[in-house]
Amino acid sequence: SLRVLTGITTTGTPHLGNYVGAIRPAVAASRSANVQSFYFLADYHALIKCDEPSRIQRSTLEIAATWLAAGLDPERVLFYRQSDIPEIPELTWLLTCVTGKGLLNRAHAYKASVDKNLAAGHDPDADVTAGLFMYPVLMGADILMFKAHKVPVGRDQIQHIEMARDMAQSFNHLYGEHFVLPEAAIEESVATLPGLDGRKMSKSYDNTIALFAPREQMRKQIAGIVTDSRAPGEPKSTEGSALFQIYQAFASTEETAALAKAYAEGIAWGDAKQLLFERIDREIAPMRAHYESLVNDPARIENTLRAGAARARELSSAFIAELRQAVGLRNLG
Ligand code: TYM
Repeated sequence: SLRVLTGITTTGTPHLGNYVGAIRPAVAASRSANVQSFYFLADYHALIKCDEPSRIQRSTLEIAATWLAAGLDPERVLFYRQSDIPEIPELTWLLTCVTGKGLLNRAHAYKASVDKNLAAGHDPDADVTAGLFMYPVLMGADILMFKAHKVPVGRDQIQHIEMARDMAQSFNHLYGEHFVLPEAAIEESVATLPGLDGRKMSKSYDNTIALFAPREQMRKQIAGIVTDSRAPGEPKSTEGSALFQIYQAFASTEETAALAKAYAEGIAWGDAKQLLFERIDREIAPMRAHYESLVNDPARIENTLRAGAARARELSSAFIAELRQAVGLRNLG
């Protein structure tokens, strides 16, 4: 059967970009026959960006509640916390030893930090931790551990999945065919959802719309989407309109065509924002109540995650034994 895997870093509150780029397609995929799904909370990855323990814990709870509220069925899907699987850091080391340093030098996130430091006249690696540099290897271990074929993600993660493929190929070349070569699964229409300011919606740009903010708060956030200064009655352009792109990520083809027509006819920005709010709310509202009850029941979430980790470890412990043997390490009894 086809194996689908994806994770979300536990550094903040889930936003619409996480939902349309990863959560919604992943939950949909998990419902098809002949698919085995692996969805997890990337809390080891969170340590790279966040040194506040309470924030990591809160985010883990919120992201777990989000997956469940969005319809993930923990009986059907392997749903777990990355740090509950000790075989993942172990595999990270095995992969580290077959990964060229030059490959990691080319990672976008690392390069962005280097460029920022150089632009500020600092040492290129000034504030760069070895964790940031190694980020793609840890992610490679996440993916390769469970032999995932497809990884549903937004466009910003494609390079990481290509690197995981490279690592799998290097390892297979040296030690035999142990790893499956993974592929990114990208929904073109939502591959990069823009945020309030039109740049990619991202925790690091502080331009996000929270997925499960209370209704009135979501309306206010949507009212904050940047638009141009065209007055009511003046035709609007859909090209480069963040509001239009976000609408498209939630609406049917017919609804999107109707909004394009309204743009051409000069809809007021305030009215367009109200339409967007109503369209998103129609999809989110039924999940919101469920989310709130889950987030207020941490014990239930904890039990679900532990049960998921126990199932995932049946696979990971058997596989790491195979890999240890392949590279010539003694197997722990
Ligand atoms: P993270 O936590 O930054 O984002 C989680 C998922 O949301 C997608 N996403 C978006 N999609 C469309 N438009 C946006 N504006 C947007 N913002 C975020 C991301 O592409 C991602 O799919 N390294 C990963 C987490 C991770 C992972 C993995 C993913 C760790 N191990 C293994 C897949 C497989 C990350 O930081 O995603």
